[in-house]
Amino acid sequence: MLNKLIASILPIFPKSFIRIFANKYIAGETIDDAVRVVKELNSKNIMATIDVLGEDVFTKEEALSALNDCKNVLKTINEHNLNSNLSVKLTQLGLKIDFDFCYNNLKELLELAKSLNNFVRIDMEDSSTTDDTINLYEKLRKEYSNVGIVLQAYLKRTYKDAERIITFGPHFRLCKGIYNEDASIAYKKHDEINENYLKVLRFMLSNKAYVGIATHDDYLIMSSKKMIEELHLNNDEYEFQMLLGVKPELRDSLAKAGYRVRVYVPYGTHWYKYSLRRLKENPKMTGYIIKSIFFKG
Ligand code: FDA
Repeated sequence: MLNKLIASILPIFPKSFIRIFANKYIAGETIDDAVRVVKELNSKNIMATIDVLGEDVFTKEEALSALNDCKNVLKTINEHNLNSNLSVKLTQLGLKIDFDFCYNNLKELLELAKSLNNFVRIDMEDSSTTDDTINLYEKLRKEYSNVGIVLQAYLKRTYKDAERIITFGPHFRLCKGIYNEDASIAYKKHDEINENYLKVLRFMLSNKAYVGIATHDDYLIMSSKKMIEELHLNNDEYEFQMLLGVKPELRDSLAKAGYRVRVYVPYGTHWYKYSLRRLKENPKMTGYIIKSIFFKG
């Protein structure tokens, strides 16, 4: 309850205050910061996916500038021989400006990724973008095999979307979903979301899709491991995915136990919206913030 209240008033705090709490979730502001963090992860046998922070772009100039940054990430991964791919948000590449403009931008990125033997994951944003994101993915997946998509277990439509996409031999990331969606389209209760997560995951894995099991939820990780055993899957048929700064001990222990693990590594100057989302789901946030306001020093 208190957490929810604090979450709702987070936007009134100064950005510099939010930044203090958000630092652990982002690599830094430059590509060099991302390279440093990915190298550290790779040294522990953990893969990465780099994200250039940014979303909801409304001018073509901004979208093209983001496209340029994303291309630079792919080239840098190649130059430094990093074990990492790229994650992108379509609203950062112009989805809210024009579908075809965004399609062409992503196509350019996929062409470059293909020439560098790399892969691009399309993040899933709020429900106003779900149809366009899936349509754009479907269109490009016919031409490129190095593109993947994300589905969100909290959306009631997701099982049907998985059935629709499965025919492409897809590369999924399955997460719970972080945007604030209406109860008419989204499960709201923790147990319902988890139940749908496992239902969709079973469907994907049973149909031989490669899945990035993206969660820090102990119950979901334990249940996924059981499912994997039951379906006799090899280690290279799925991976676990986690966010930078969340439960590093858990991800390290999974990697040590021989599971494929990938960490989402965001960097860049547009860190604010991403950071707010991370802070809102941090169960210890209330304590940190109250302490820092009332017990300075
Ligand atoms: P849950 O929120 O129940 O958290 C489980 C436990 O993890 C918590 O009890 C806590 O201990 C810890 N934890 C979780 N978040 C924390 C935080 N911020 N700080 C500290 N501790 C925390 N969403 C989306 O809508 N579209 C997308 O494209 C993606 N992409 C994506 C990539 C990857 C690699 C991951 C791991 C997640 C996403 N997400 C996402 C976010 C996802 O939808 C979800 O919001 C978060 O993963 C949190 O959900 P959990 O499954 O971890 O469960």
